[in-house]
Amino acid sequence: MNARLFDKIMPTALKRRLDAWAENVAVVGEIRDARVFSALLPSVVRGLFLRRGKQGVPTPMPASHDAWFDWTYPADDPRLAELYRRAKQQQWDGEELPWHIDVDRENPERPIFPDGFVDWRVADELGMRVAPEDRARLVNDIGTWALAQFLHGEQGALYAAAQVTEAVHGMDAKLYGATQVMDEARHVEVFARYLDDKLGKLYQVNDNLFTLIDALMTDGRWDMKFLGMQIMIEGLALGAFGTLHQLTREPLLKELLARVIQDEARHVHFGVVALRDHFKHELDERERNEREDWAFEIAMLMRNRFLAHEVYDEWFAGTHVTRKTWRQFVERSPGMEYFRLTMFSRMVPNLREIGLLSPRIRPHYERVGLARYFGGRAADTLSADDLYQTEVPAYAS
Ligand SMILES: [Fe+2]
Ligand SMILES: [Fe+2]
Repeated sequence: MNARLFDKIMPTALKRRLDAWAENVAVVGEIRDARVFSALLPSVVRGLFLRRGKQGVPTPMPASHDAWFDWTYPADDPRLAELYRRAKQQQWDGEELPWHIDVDRENPERPIFPDGFVDWRVADELGMRVAPEDRARLVNDIGTWALAQFLHGEQGALYAAAQVTEAVHGMDAKLYGATQVMDEARHVEVFARYLDDKLGKLYQVNDNLFTLIDALMTDGRWDMKFLGMQIMIEGLALGAFGTLHQLTREPLLKELLARVIQDEARHVHFGVVALRDHFKHELDERERNEREDWAFEIAMLMRNRFLAHEVYDEWFAGTHVTRKTWRQFVERSPGMEYFRLTMFSRMVPNLREIGLLSPRIRPHYERVGLARYFGGRAADTLSADDLYQTEVPAYAS
């Protein structure tokens, strides 16, 4: 049977499922390091193939770390004691946000995402037909999707922060960690309220995000949890929050994100301070290499895989627009480029600072065009103000 005939008689639903599977196989194929591949495989199966996050029921994720008790209560890290003090003083109440503001998804004066987040010329080039009257609604759905992923990520951050707090060995780190648990609870509260009260729509968790969270929750080593959560996912979050904070014209969301960014800046700072000494002095070369490879592969997965497939399923599944077309459309959107720039300009200097950017791994980052971030400033030298002042892309100003 020739391929075209097969294509014609194959039911559309089956074709869609095969497309999605082919994409998942491609994700797995992108992991080049065999050790990282086997470590991530169970999470990949649960997230991408069994799609555990999309079954509409709560998901148990087993934790396999030890809670670490220290009965001597040492004052063991003045830098973290200072961060703990600052975190206590900077607590805020989600109720204080200007919830009275009326958010209108259709208001062109105050868009959640400006139209320039995507490039309609790319859509035309790809033969992706979207009627002019539907375009603002599609951009809004992508924005709503992104906010829903923030919420799911914040729930992951809440439990990961709780796990890190019990698993970490330093006493000052534990006290600081407790403030982060509170921060993440507040973030869950405000994103859930915004989505429910103001947008009235909740997208399911993206399978790739589920996979990442699953991998962190089930890893028994405290420093891997820490690296994954405090450097990689928090780096991703700062990139995403910074992007949306710059782009949105909706005042309630802008204020909400500004507050959240201030908290997240402390979280990444915590990661850098707590991991720097540990990686440099406590690990042998083999262990450090393992973490370095893991961080690189995760960074690549993050770069390539947050492509709003749930919006595709809602709008285009079964139409002339294939998943491949959608992927190209999102990958080439100016908003996505800006997100990548913000994320990597934060994450790469932090990896350098904790000792995971050795000459052994640098050529891999160079190969994917990230060498320009090698000399950037790490989180422990950045204030929240620095994080707001990201360069604004021309289309958003
Ligand atoms: Fe958070
Ligand atoms: Fe956080």
